[in-house]
Order: sequence, then C-alpha cells, then structure tokens
Amino acid sequence: MGRFTRTLGPTATITAAIGLWLVVMVTVSASAATRQSGASFVKATETATATTTPATGYVGEETCLTCHEDHKKGYQGSPHARARNPRTPAAKQGCESCHGPGQAHVDGGGDKTKIKNPATMPLRDANAACQSCHNRSTHDNFAGSKHDARNVGCVTCHSVHAPKSEKGQLKTETQQETCVQCHRREVNKVHKSSHMPVGDKSGNKMECTSCHNPHGSQNVKMLKEGTSITEACASCHAEKRGPFLWEHAVGRESCVTCHDAHGSNNERMLVAKVPMLCQRCHVHSRHPATIYDTTQVNNRSNRIVGRSCVNCHQMIHGSNHPTSGKVFLR
Ligand code: HEC
Ligand code: HEC
Ligand code: HEC
Ligand code: HEC
Ligand code: HEC
Ligand code: HEC
Ligand code: HEC
Ligand code: HEC
Ligand code: HEC
Ligand code: HEC
Repeated sequence: MGRFTRTLGPTATITAAIGLWLVVMVTVSASAATRQSGASFVKATETATATTTPATGYVGEETCLTCHEDHKKGYQGSPHARARNPRTPAAKQGCESCHGPGQAHVDGGGDKTKIKNPATMPLRDANAACQSCHNRSTHDNFAGSKHDARNVGCVTCHSVHAPKSEKGQLKTETQQETCVQCHRREVNKVHKSSHMPVGDKSGNKMECTSCHNPHGSQNVKMLKEGTSITEACASCHAEKRGPFLWEHAVGRESCVTCHDAHGSNNERMLVAKVPMLCQRCHVHSRHPATIYDTTQVNNRSNRIVGRSCVNCHQMIHGSNHPTSGKVFLR
C-alpha cells in the first residue's frame, strides 16, 4: 500500500480502497454461494486438503512424489495437473485418481503388487479408470466400439506421463504415426498424389480425426458426423449432397462408390480413371464402350481426353437445371 500512496494522488487512493473493498465483498459472497450450491466443488476441495486421512487409503500426491519425483515430468503442466479445473485428477485424488489408493503401496515401501499400473494391468480395467472421467460427449461411444472390441484401449494410443504429440497426449508425435501402426493401408493412401490435403507434412489441414472419432461414434466406420458415409462427407461438402432436381442415384447412395476417402492415384481421389469409372456402370449409354476403339483414341475423342465424360457431364453429382440437368450437362 505504501507504494500506492507515494505514487498516486489522494483521489486515486480512495478509489483504490473502494475497489479493494468491493473485491473483498464479492469474493466473500461468491465463496459463500459456492459453499451453499456447489456441493461437488466443496467435496473436491475437502478431499484435496484432507488427503492424508489414512481411512481412505489415499496418501496424496506429495507423498507419491517423495519417491517418484521423476513422474512429475510430462504430467506437471498437462491438463490433468490443472487443479483449477474441478474435474481434473489434480483437483481430486491427484496421482491416485488413476493409480488408486496408495497407502498399502507406501506402507510396503513401494510394493509393486499393491498399486495399479495402467501400463501393465488388464486394458479394460485401465480404460475404466480413464472413463471414470472421460465418459461424456465425444467419448460416450467408446464402449463397444471397434477399437474397444479389439482390445485397443486408452493407453494403447495415449500416454499420461510421456506424451509425444503437441495435443491430445498421444504416444507418437503425429496422429498418423499412431494410426499407421495398425492401419498402414489407409495411411499410405494419404501420401498418394491426388487427394485432399490430409497429412502432417502437407500443411496439416486435415487429419484422420477430421472424419473419424477413434473413440467410437454413432456412424459406420467410426465416422464422426452423420449416420451414413454420404452425410459424413456432406458435413464439409454440403453442395454435393443436394437435394437436386436431377439426382445421380449413385451419389446419393455413397460418395465412396466413386471417391476413395483416403486418396488414390487418380485425380480428385477417384477410385478409377474416367471414362473407365463411368463405364463400370454405363456401358449401354448413348455413347457405349466403343470409345476404347483405336478410331476414338486416334481422333482424341473428347470422351477420353481431359476430363473425359465430365467434359460434358459437368454436374456429375446432380443438377438443378430444368432441361439439360437431366443428363448433368449443366
Ligand atoms: C516409499 C517410496 C514410495 C512411495 C511413497 C510411493 N512409491 Fe510407488 N513405487 C516405489 C517403488 C520402490 C516402486 C517399485 C519400483 C520397481 O520395482 O521398479 C514403485 C512402483 C510404483 C508403480 C509401478 C508399479 C508397477 O507395476 O511397476 C506405480 C504405478 C507407483 N509406484 C505409483 C505410486 C503412487 C501413485 C504413489 C503415491 C500414492 C506411490 N507410488 C508412492 C516407491 C514408492
Ligand atoms: C490421468 C491418470 C494418471 C495420473 C493422474 C497419474 N498417472 Fe501415473 N500412470 C498413468 C498411466 C496411464 C501410466 C502408464 C504409462 C503412461 O501412460 O505414461 C502410469 C504409469 C506410472 C508409473 C509406472 C511407470 C512405468 O513406467 O511403468 C508410475 C511410477 C506412476 N505412473 C506414478 C505416478 C505419480 C507419482 C503420479 C502423480 C504425480 C501419477 N502417476 C499420476 C496414469 C496416471
Ligand atoms: C479424475 C478425472 C480424470 C481421469 C481419471 C483421467 N482424466 Fe484425462 N482429463 C481429465 C480432464 C478434466 C482433462 C482436461 C480436458 C477437459 O477439460 O476435458 C483431461 C484431459 C485429457 C486428455 C487431453 C489432453 C490434452 O492435451 O488436451 C487426454 C488425452 C486424457 N485426458 C487422457 C486420459 C487417460 C488416457 C486417462 C486414463 C489413464 C485419463 N485421461 C484419466 C480428467 C481425467
Ligand atoms: C486408436 C487410438 C486411440 C484410442 C484407443 C483412444 N484415443 Fe483418445 N485420442 C486419440 C486421438 C488421435 C486424439 C486426437 C488427438 C489430437 O487432437 O490430435 C485423441 C484425443 C483424446 C482426448 C482429447 C479430447 C478429444 O476428444 O479430442 C481425450 C480426452 C482422449 N483422447 C481420451 C481417451 C480415452 C479416455 C480413451 C479410452 C477410453 C481414449 N482416448 C482412447 C486416439 C485414441
Ligand atoms: C475425408 C474423410 C476421411 C479421412 C480424412 C480419413 N478417413 Fe478413414 N474412412 C473414411 C470413410 C468414408 C470410410 C468408410 C469407407 C471406406 O472404407 O472407404 C473410412 C474407413 C476407414 C477404415 C476402415 C477400413 C475398412 O476397410 O473397414 C479405417 C481403418 C480408416 N478409415 C482409417 C483412417 C486413417 C488411419 C486415417 C488417417 C490417415 C483416415 N482413415 C482418414 C473417411 C476418412
Ligand atoms: C493398436 C492397433 C490400432 C491402432 C493404433 C489404431 N487402430 Fe483403428 N482399428 C484397429 C482394429 C483391430 C480395428 C478393427 C478392425 C476390424 O474389425 O476389421 C480398427 C478399426 C478401425 C476403423 C474401422 C471401424 C469400423 O467400424 O469398421 C477405423 C475407422 C479406425 N480403426 C480408425 C483408426 C484411427 C483414426 C486410428 C488412429 C487415431 C486408429 N484407428 C488406430 C486397431 C487399431
Ligand atoms: C472436415 C471436412 C471434410 C470432410 C469431412 C470431407 N472433406 Fe473432402 N475436402 C475437404 C477440403 C478442405 C478439401 C480441399 C478443398 C480445396 O482444396 O479447395 C477437400 C477436397 C475434396 C476433393 C477434391 C480433391 C482434389 O483433388 O481436388 C474430393 C473429391 C473430396 N474432398 C471428397 C470427399 C469425400 C468423398 C468425403 C467423404 C468421405 C470428404 N471429401 C469429406 C474437406 C472435407
Ligand atoms: C458417380 C461418381 C461420383 C460420385 C458418386 C460422387 N462423385 Fe464427386 N466427383 C466425381 C467426378 C468424376 C469428379 C471430378 C469432376 C471434375 O473433374 O470436374 C468429382 C469431383 C468431386 C469433388 C471436387 C471437385 C468439385 O466439384 O469440387 C468433390 C469435393 C466431390 N467430388 C465430392 C463428392 C461427394 C461429397 C460425394 C458424395 C455426396 C461425391 N463426390 C460423389 C464423381 C463422383
Ligand atoms: C456405380 C454405378 C455408376 C457409376 C460409376 C456412374 N453412374 Fe451415372 N448413373 C448410374 C445410375 C444407376 C443412374 C440412374 C439411371 C437411371 O435413372 O436410369 C445414372 C445416371 C446417369 C446419367 C443420367 C442418365 C439418365 O438417363 O438419366 C448420366 C448422364 C450419367 N449417369 C453419367 C455418368 C458419368 C459421366 C459417370 C462417370 C463420371 C457416371 N455416370 C458414373 C450409375 C452410375
Ligand atoms: C461431347 C459431350 C459428351 C461427352 C464427352 C459424353 N457425353 Fe454423355 N451425353 C452427352 C449428351 C449431349 C447427352 C444427352 C443426349 C440426349 O439428351 O439425348 C448424353 C447422354 C448421356 C447419358 C444418358 C443417355 C443414355 O443414352 O443413357 C449417359 C448415361 C451418358 N451420356 C454417359 C456418358 C459417359 C459414361 C461418357 C464418357 C464415356 C459420356 N457420356 C461422355 C454428351 C456427352
């Protein structure tokens, strides 16, 4: 206060004093309110301060750290260690939120058999420890998901103490490095010549999790959005979904009939080159498969060069043009 009176005039001092009084009053009434209404907040604070009670079997983080100082690294400063967030381990039982009560372990001088280690315990039990907090919103479909069913658990992909990724505490630096361990086929496609800018090297515009939720979802193939593949694509490419006056029936069914979601050797991630792509279905059209004749090739028919069929059938996903739209010309 001394410094204030020296540098500020008397009016400022009075203003500061009133300000301080206000702050004190607000804080007092706020904490009183929390105590009355925020029952869970009170509980969290009490457990944090009363961690040495032997009855609970919890010894508290300080005790753990007397022997495991090195486990502060990676954990300290991570979202789990932020006590200000009442849902974090730091605001609850600290280390023991995940490792379980440690009294017996400590009494046994660090008896390994008396403490839970998520790295070595059955994956399902480790998952349960994490899910005691992570059971909402984007995580509520994990149980029964393909990953859960095939014994791919939280600690398969995540590390609490030694994460390598910038976000999301993955065991690898990038998402792709995590997924590639088991999904080489999909990740390799991403590196092919023509695909949407998926990938970490090419600008990180899209990642596997732009389309998938590795924690499970309501959609097929753990797709994040919608309840069908087409809806998942349309969450970004709304204009391709329609409804159109003239629908290309196949597009409505599924975008991956013609596109490979992960990338391909063809332009626009097409599963086959045009005209071959189109002729998988349209061999009896007005311009049948005779386009592969030498005459057509030598004449550089516009049904083959450039964008081939799409030179004319530009509105390949569907059209709203009353007349030419029927065959997707405009
Ligand atoms: C008195 C020292 C001491 C204290 C306090 C202590 N530990 Fe340990 N802890 C050890 C020793 C020793 C080991 C065994 C190291 C080994 O054998 O590799 C160990 C091992 C562990 C392991 C690995 C178990 C395994 O299966 O390999 C975990 C997890 C662990 N401690 C967690 C904790 C937690 C959480 C706390 C606080 C509740 C805690 N420890 C408190 C000494 C201690
Ligand atoms: C959010 C859950 C969580 C919290 C909180 C947590 N741990 Fe861990 N702990 C884990 C997981 C998961 C592993 C397995 C290795 C990993 O993921 O990094 C582990 C492994 C360990 C191990 C065994 C090391 C090994 O290499 O096998 C020790 C010891 C340990 N933790 C001590 C602590 C201490 C001490 C604290 C508190 C400062 C703490 N843990 C807080 C989840 C947690
Ligand atoms: C006591 C509750 C609690 C437990 C137990 C817990 N977490 Fe968390 N975790 C949180 C909270 C709170 C956050 C902060 C993010 C938020 O607000 O959702 C978080 C954040 C994370 C993040 C995101 C980190 C980031 O950088 O954004 C990951 C990944 C994570 N937890 C994994 C795990 C894993 C794996 C386990 C089990 C070994 C686990 N958690 C156990 C409460 C918990
Ligand atoms: C197949 C690998 C994989 C498994 C299994 C997995 N995760 Fe994740 N998790 C990820 C990826 C990838 C991210 C996104 C990281 C990023 O932002 O780049 C992520 C993100 C998270 C986040 C940050 C918030 C969010 O939803 O983006 C939390 C919290 C989290 N995971 C918790 C868990 C928990 C708890 C489990 C077990 C029930 C689990 N994860 C299982 C791969 C996995
Ligand atoms: C543009 C959206 C999109 C992106 C980005 C994406 N996927 Fe997919 N993924 C899909 C769609 C749609 C399917 C289902 C249709 C299919 O199998 O082609 C799918 C299917 C899968 C399947 C199941 C394949 C099968 O045969 O059942 C795996 C595994 C997969 N993706 C992994 C990944 C990985 C790993 C990444 C990141 C390198 C990734 N995906 C990026 C959209 C995407
Ligand atoms: C440790 C191995 C492993 C890792 C790592 C892994 N997965 Fe999987 N994933 C699997 C297994 C096993 C299946 C089930 C395959 C099956 O049943 O055909 C699967 C299935 C999938 C499917 C198809 C789901 C369905 O309903 O058919 C998608 C999509 C997928 N994983 C995405 C990812 C993404 C994205 C990542 C990286 C964040 C990832 N996976 C990391 C093992 C893994
Ligand atoms: C998260 C948003 C998002 C989702 C979901 C998404 N895309 Fe894309 N897609 C993009 C972006 C961004 C581009 C690049 C646009 C650009 O460069 O102008 C793109 C480009 C494309 C291209 C053009 C590629 C090229 O070479 O020009 C095709 C084809 C495409 N997406 C198909 C799909 C399909 C099929 C799906 C569903 C499996 C899908 N997209 C899901 C965001 C998305
Ligand atoms: C009948 C095959 C077919 C189906 C089904 C299909 N597409 Fe396409 N798509 C194409 C062809 C061919 C091109 C290349 C057009 C060109 O060269 O102008 C293309 C181009 C694209 C492009 C990039 C060019 C542009 O116009 O922006 C995007 C994005 C795209 N498709 C998204 C989708 C989505 C999303 C779906 C599902 C709703 C879908 N496609 C279904 C054949 C198809
Ligand atoms: C997976 C099969 C499939 C593929 C691949 C496909 N189509 Fe189609 N296409 C259809 C079906 C089914 C219809 C609807 C036919 C009907 O209503 O009689 C249709 C309708 C059309 C029509 C309107 C014809 C009419 O009589 O209404 C045109 C034009 C057309 N497709 C062009 C193309 C072009 C160009 C390509 C390649 C870029 C292509 N299609 C790829 C299945 C396909
Ligand atoms: C030079 C422009 C042009 C090119 C290139 C072209 N088309 Fe057409 N196509 C048309 C026109 C114009 C019509 C409509 C004729 C009508 O209304 O009688 C048509 C009609 C169609 C129809 C619907 C009528 C029917 O007979 O079933 C299909 C399907 C079709 N085209 C497929 C294709 C395929 C597949 C390719 C590539 C191999 C292709 N088109 C290349 C101009 C073109």
